[in-house]
Order: sequence, then C-alpha cells, then structure tokens
Amino acid sequence: MPERLAGVEPITCLTAAEKRTLNQIRANSYCHLFAFVEEYIVPMVMANATRDVFGDETRLWSLLRFAEEEVKHQEMMRRACDLFATGFGSECGLVPGREAVAEAVLGTSPLTALLLTSMIEWFVQLHFVEHMRDNQELDPLFRDILRYHWIDEARHAKLDTLLIDEVASSLAPTARETAIDELLQLGMAIDGLLAQQLELDIEALEHATSRNFTAAEKDEIRDAQRRAYRWTFIVSGLEHPRFTEIVDAVTLEGRDKIDAAAQALAA
Ligand SMILES: [Fe+2]
Ligand SMILES: [Fe+2]
Repeated sequence: MPERLAGVEPITCLTAAEKRTLNQIRANSYCHLFAFVEEYIVPMVMANATRDVFGDETRLWSLLRFAEEEVKHQEMMRRACDLFATGFGSECGLVPGREAVAEAVLGTSPLTALLLTSMIEWFVQLHFVEHMRDNQELDPLFRDILRYHWIDEARHAKLDTLLIDEVASSLAPTARETAIDELLQLGMAIDGLLAQQLELDIEALEHATSRNFTAAEKDEIRDAQRRAYRWTFIVSGLEHPRFTEIVDAVTLEGRDKIDAAAQALAA
C-alpha cells in the first residue's frame, strides 16, 4: 500500500519489518472493503437503469454495463483477498456484514446512495493516480488490480455525475439538503466499520509478528491507523475537488457540511 493510505511510518512501537507487515494487512483489508462497500452499487445502478427501460438505449446500455463492472470488481477484490490468504502465512480477520451495509445504504434516498458512490469513485481515482500509478515500490499485481479498478471507476464517475443531475433535478431543494445529512450519517456508519476492521488488523498483526502489544502500544497503533483509515475511505472523498463541485451544484449548504465533517475526521 502507498504510505499515504497505509499510514504505518509514524508508529514508533513497530520495527520496519512490522510496519511492512501491517502495510500488507492494510492492502488486504483495502481490497476486502471495496468488495464490501460496493455491494450496494449493483442494485442501486440496476434500479436507476430500469427506471427508464424503454427510453434512451445508450443510457440503459451504459448503466447495465456499469452494474456488470461492479460485479466484476467484487469478484476481482475477493480473488485478491483469497490470494493474500494463501500467501500471507497467518490469518487476517475481515469485517463481516456486507448485506447489512448494502441494506442501510439502499434504505437512504436515491440521491444519498448516488452521492456516496460518487465520493467512492473519486477517491478511487485519487488513490490510484496520485499514490499508486507511478509507485514502483508496490507489488505489481496489487497495482494492476487497482489499475483495472480505476479504469472502470473513471467511467463510472462520469455516469454517476449524470445520474446525480437526473435524480437531483426531480427533487425539492429540502430533499437535496437532507441527502447530504444522510450521506454524513452513512459516513459515520462507515467510520464504525473501519474501527471494527482496525481492531481485527491489530489482532492479525499480533499473530503475524508473534507479539503481544501492551495497551499503550495498541493505543499508538490505533490512533495512527484510525487517521489513515479515515483519510483513505472518507476524508479523501469528502475533500475531493470534483466531489465538492458536485455537492455544490445540487445543494446550498452541502459544501459547508461536508467540509466540516472532513475537518473533524482528519483531526
Ligand atoms: Fe467498483
Ligand atoms: Fe464503480
């Protein structure tokens, strides 16, 4: 994993080799969490596609392909995790409950789910282009997996922007503002999920390094990793200039709300 995402270097209680092991654990959870959070995108895109099934054929074709690509991404990320499990040497726990998260997202307004998707698509691009594409230190297969994810997500981000315009234009201004509140609630739920994964990572690191961390050492690892997880999966999306432009275009107060949330989570 690129250090900007992994955030292992500042942890003083780990040796260089242990930091590398934690970095690898994080690469595995990165793949898992994508397979995990993207679960809801397939039914969400299908619902948008079938809303106008006898209308614009290019729209229908693009959205069906979008959904199909997300199924492919989940399979690709799952295979990456399987490969990691066979090669890493000790077990690494991964958060369960994919369907429950998908249900929670699909239970929000259609605009909320689209905004969450857009945020994910923009941070996928930022992670790859700025931190992975030219990073020669990364495992070539890991970089390739993220390259193929990025290629599709770059297209999805454009389709999603069109869908957001379509859905937002049918909503009253108050409903659009509410979508931002719901988005930030989902962000908090994702933060809870990341906190669970972080505890599993600490256990996995103990197994892999045959160490028993003291409470103070665990606190140090937890602090650094909470910041790194939050930046990777939430803040880098909330702060993304293309995402904030989209929020600005459909709401009046949304930009200020997401700026404040990003600042609070980055602290
Ligand atoms: Fe995807
Ligand atoms: Fe996507």
